[in-house]
This record gives sequence, C-alpha cells and structure tokens, in this order.
Amino acid sequence: MDKFVIRGGNPLLGTVRVSGAKNAALPAMAAALLTEEPIILENIPQVRDIETERKLLAAMGAEVELGYGRAQHRTTICCRNLVNAEASYELVKTMRASTLVLGPLVARMKRARVSLPGGCAIGARPIDLHIGGLKKLGAKISQEHGYIEARAERLRGGRIVFERITVTGTEDLLMAATLAEGETVLENCAREPEVVDLTALLNKMGARIEGAGTPTIRVRGVEQLHGARHRIIPDRIEAGTFIVAGALTGGDLLVSGCEPRHLGALLQKLEECGVQVQTSGDSVRITGDAPIQAADVVTEEYPGFPTDMQAQYMALATQAEGTSIVTENIFENRFMHAQELVRMGAHVRIEGSSAVVHGKTPLSGAAVQASDLRASASLVLAALVADGETIIDRVYHIDRGYERIEEKLRGVGAQIRRIGEFLPKRVVSPGVAV
Ligand code: EPZ
Repeated sequence: MDKFVIRGGNPLLGTVRVSGAKNAALPAMAAALLTEEPIILENIPQVRDIETERKLLAAMGAEVELGYGRAQHRTTICCRNLVNAEASYELVKTMRASTLVLGPLVARMKRARVSLPGGCAIGARPIDLHIGGLKKLGAKISQEHGYIEARAERLRGGRIVFERITVTGTEDLLMAATLAEGETVLENCAREPEVVDLTALLNKMGARIEGAGTPTIRVRGVEQLHGARHRIIPDRIEAGTFIVAGALTGGDLLVSGCEPRHLGALLQKLEECGVQVQTSGDSVRITGDAPIQAADVVTEEYPGFPTDMQAQYMALATQAEGTSIVTENIFENRFMHAQELVRMGAHVRIEGSSAVVHGKTPLSGAAVQASDLRASASLVLAALVADGETIIDRVYHIDRGYERIEEKLRGVGAQIRRIGEFLPKRVVSPGVAV
C-alpha cells in the first residue's frame, strides 16, 4: 500500500492549479444514464472515484471513454445499449456515491437494483431519504439480500420535502424527476454548487429545472433527454485544502483555476484567523506568516462551513494562538484524524460533536494512518509544518479525491514523495485503461 513521506518546514511558494470537482463529476457521469445519446464531460479529475464510476457504468453496458494525453480530463459516456440496471455491492462498498445511479436507472430503465452502501468511517450515512423520495414519485421499492429493488413503469411528478438536507439525495431525485410524468417540487434541498452544476448539465440535456441553488427546486418532466457537452466546476474542497496549506506554511501561494465564490465560508473564517487572503478572477492568493488566531467553527450545509474542510481546518487550529472549538454537525463520526494529529503532538480533546483544539503546539513528524479522504488531507497539511519526517499510511484514501496531490504540492516547494507501487490509472489508448 502506498505511503507519503513528508518533511515539514517549507513555506509554499508559487501557483497550484485546482482540478475539476469529484463531487460534481460523479453525479454528472450518473446523469448520462438518463439518455441514449453521448454525454461529453470536461474537466473531469483523474482520481480513483472516477475510475470506480467508470467501472460502475461500464458494468451496466455503458461505453465510457476516459480521455488521455491532452484530453485526459475529458470523458465521453454513451448509455445507448444498457444491458443491466444494477450497481453491485463490490463497487458500492468502495464508493457510496454509486447510489446516485438509483434515480436515473428507475427513470430511464423502469427498474434498478442497487446495493445498499453499508457503514462508512465518518458515519452511518443511510439512503432512506433517496428511497423515500422515489416512493413519492411512484416507484415500487423492495429490499432483499442487501439490495434495493426499485421499479416504475413511469415515475409520476410529486412533492418531496426532505426531512434533512442531503446533497446526493437532492441530486438523485432531481435526476429521477427529469423523466417523470408532470411536475415535481423538491423542498429543503441542498444548495451546494455541485447541485447547481448538475442542474446546468441536465438542462443542457433538455430537462426543465428551475430553482437549483435555492431550497426549492421545480422539475417539469419530459419524455426523453438528449446528449450534451458540459465542463465540470472546479473542486472547491481541493482548492480549500491548498488554501489552508498556504495559510499553515506561511508562504506566498496562488491557488488558481478555482471559483472563489464557492469558498465564501472558508475564506471568511480564515480572515477571522488573521490570514491574508486575496481573491481575483479564478484565483485565491494566501500570503505571509502572520500568527494564526484561534477561531471556533461549526460545520453546516452550503453556504455554511463545509464538513469536507473540517479536518483540514483542525490541522490549522493546532497552529493557532489560543483555543478553537471545532463542531461537526453533518456526520456523527468525523474526528478520526484527531487522534492521529495528537500522535504528532497536537492538543485535541473530543467532547461529543465538538473537538477542543489548544494551539499553538509544535508538531513533530510521526508515522500516522489515514482513515478517510479528508482526514488524510488533514494529516498531509499537519506534516507540512511538522518537525522532521512524517509517514502517512493508506494514502489510497487521498487518491480517491485528490489528483496527484504530491506532485502539485512538490510543485510549490513541499518535500513530499510517494512510496509504493500505485499510480492513478491513465488511459493509454481509447477505451483501454492500464
Ligand atoms: C455529499 O455526501 C458529499 N459526497 C460528501 O463528500 C459531503 O461530505 C456531504 O455531501 C455533505 O456535504 C458527494 O457529493 C459524492 P448528505 P452525501 O446526504 O450526499 C444524512 C467527500 O469528502 N442522510 O448530504 O452522502 C447523512 O447521514 C464526501 O468528498 C440521511 O440520514 O451526504 C448525513 O448525516 C464525504 N439519510 C447528512 O444526512 C439520507 O438518505 C448529510 O448527508 C441521506 C443523508
């Protein structure tokens, strides 16, 4: 298994470019199931979860071509000849977002057999709201042998009020409603930029959706959808991770190719911590090594402070002057990184859904273990300011959502290298992955 070896102490200097958003690319690829015509997606990140999604769609009979060379961030998907409507446990257990095929399959193929995702490192993460919503659209749902079976001759428009804001739940039902008979009104929806980006793609495919980005979304169902070309938005969480790296290491870092508008809550919090932040066009610049001031943070749904930045923010809080209280409101078990940071010398105490972080404490390099995608990012950030060498094990977690993070960080002066045999797959010729 791959590991990262990081020697801390270097300020980050220069420009680091952000890739496309994993959490926008995954629903966009699932949306291709809604039409028999080709969907061309650009700015697709080369990360492990995209590879899993490719396998998921290919197993149903979709033609999925991951670009290579100059087109390596382009994907063409054609779901003309789907042979089955199933998402197997083998794939779903490696990536929960696989459940995003449920709505599109029922809508287009009239049936879907999707494995229940099971538990996850950061929380129970049930999909009851997805299932409840599909029932409201007239689907017959049964569960057996760990699989959800959903059937509907044609979904019927309806009114769905989400008991709780759910990102993929909103995306799943949005896609299902595009081919339903009549109008669907979704209320208490997620307002994440990824939901807005998916809607932009669906409307290019001929869907009739209004209100994305607000709590209420209206979908007027159509008979069928057609092909489209769409560029995926930048990854705001990858951008946020690099921005915190810049703040932590006290260099002069330009994070380019991002959308500063999507980073409002994070940038505001960093300014509260005394970090110098400048935004212009598609870039955010982090300069200087002014002492970081402690500030409390509470994770919320967008546009609040993202839970996917909580772990990275905790790494920053270990280097802040004073005590920061980090409260996690979205997932019930998302402090796995805290004990690993303590192994590096941090002072973190967990009290229910809050972590009390005393700073500033010098960190020292140690052998640590990643437990999930964002926890591993937080360990990389801590290692960048730790004294000596840190060895991070299980970096396959980070490869799920960060495209060649070690190369990008090395490009701005970090001392980081990967040891082990894994390199993200790269297509050597159309349709063949190595
Ligand atoms: C999306 O997950 C993201 N994943 C997550 O990013 C992100 O952390 C999360 O939204 C919150 O922002 C993708 O977009 C692929 P939710 P999702 O449904 O949709 C509960 C990363 O690091 N809930 O908004 O699965 C749930 O348990 C990943 O890139 C139900 O109870 O999250 C959670 O407590 C990690 N029943 C809360 O709602 C349901 O049916 C919010 O979850 C659905 C959700």
